[in-house]
Amino acid sequence: MEFMKKDYQGLAEAARQAKLLAYAPFSKFRVGAALLTKDGKIFTGCNIENSSYGLTICAERVAIFKAISSGSTQFAAIAVVSDDRGYTPPCGACRQVLSDLAGNIDFVMMDARKRIKIIKLTSLLPFAFTKKNLFRTLKLKK
Ligand code: THU
Repeated sequence: MEFMKKDYQGLAEAARQAKLLAYAPFSKFRVGAALLTKDGKIFTGCNIENSSYGLTICAERVAIFKAISSGSTQFAAIAVVSDDRGYTPPCGACRQVLSDLAGNIDFVMMDARKRIKIIKLTSLLPFAFTKKNLFRTLKLKK
């Protein structure tokens, strides 16, 4: 199904609300995400930082882990909002996790002027490593 920018206003608004819950005392960079399932549910997430910085988790991964652990596995789109004046693209780790667990969904970014940009996951992470790679190993003779 082809979605238009206007279809994602509500999803982006949910991401904006989720941003209010961000725990980002170190970077002060607050991010909210809202993940839309194919059956119309929305799972939100915010970034959650840690005193051991490397254990920080992005808003996108919080949203998708919440969704999967609640029983939803089929997704249509994810919206992301931050206080960045421009669009905030996902980090490399989130590109991998989203493309592996959600497939070629729409990645929806809203900037500070509430303008929307939509990019497909395969454009953000072409030639991705997925489970198909794990299941096609050759059994070589010793
Ligand atoms: N962050 C996200 O939550 N999502 C993104 O797409 C970019 C980065 C968070 C991680 C960290 O808490 C802060 O933004 C600064 O990197």
